Amino acid sequence: MPKPVLLITRKLPDAIEARAARDYEVRLNPDDAPWFRDGAEIAKRAQGADGILCAAGDPMNAATIAALPASVKCIATFSVGYDHLDVAAAKARGITCTNTPEVLSFATAETAMTLMLMAARRAGEGERMVRAGKWEGWAPTQLMGVTLEGKKLGILGMGRIGRELAAMARGFRMEIHYRDINPLPAEAAQGAIYHDNDDSFLSTIDVISMHVPGGDATRKWLNAERLAKMKPGHLVVNSGRGGSVDDAALVASLTSGHTRAAGLDVYDGEPKVFPGYFVLENVALLPHLGSATIEVRDAMGHRALENLDAVLIHKTPAPHAIG
Ligand code: DGY
Repeated sequence: MPKPVLLITRKLPDAIEARAARDYEVRLNPDDAPWFRDGAEIAKRAQGADGILCAAGDPMNAATIAALPASVKCIATFSVGYDHLDVAAAKARGITCTNTPEVLSFATAETAMTLMLMAARRAGEGERMVRAGKWEGWAPTQLMGVTLEGKKLGILGMGRIGRELAAMARGFRMEIHYRDINPLPAEAAQGAIYHDNDDSFLSTIDVISMHVPGGDATRKWLNAERLAKMKPGHLVVNSGRGGSVDDAALVASLTSGHTRAAGLDVYDGEPKVFPGYFVLENVALLPHLGSATIEVRDAMGHRALENLDAVLIHKTPAPHAIG
């Protein structure tokens, strides 16, 4: 039996490429060349392929899906988020789509925690000062931030990542609040306080950490009106999807000091970053590091391949099908 043909759009960890090469006739992107940004190019390279292993940010939109050859039966995204993948268009063409849930929840929560600490303790500002040779020594009033201890953390979107963050934040003695469509069962909530409306959620919390999927439903969710409902001096953290923050509104709030500080890992239209952030000291900017650990990127690759194996080799349902 010939091996199924698999197009992999991005450079992946070595162990994942080796496993893929063992089980598939692989088309790799060893240099991570930017053709993955071009849907027409992805479709061209997918001619004759049975599956595609794509990644967060690849333009797997309706036009790309429409241009794929009929041979493609499975698209596995190397990500938990799939706002870049038009699952409905793929489904209409009989293509199974899958993602990589669970394995990256802790790592992404770690990134949110990192950003929260960076924002609270002015870590980015301090690092820039030291690197620039501008640090003149310890001083009693230098770069004073705020503690997280005793603060009310508001988690927007209490899925797996939100719940991992809640567990970490309890270690910092924060009080956990959350906003979601439905409350969690008590065992999963672990005492976290549910808000069934934005007003009570926003007016209660000291820190918001955003964990909502991208897409129209959450587009610019954190806008000027919602920021205004938060207490002066609050912190904003986003490690979900960039589009859920109205950048101009957040920059205005950071500039006025109504938002004390923010930490961002994701950006609307990334890798572009809203230019207003660059001139502000009170925002920490990370380059979408959410799941970027050696352990997790391997686990994500194995998960993506498990899904492709199910559909293309074993002819069984994908364990992590979406849509
Ligand atoms: C995801 O998995 O959706 C992340 O954002 C990519 O690291």
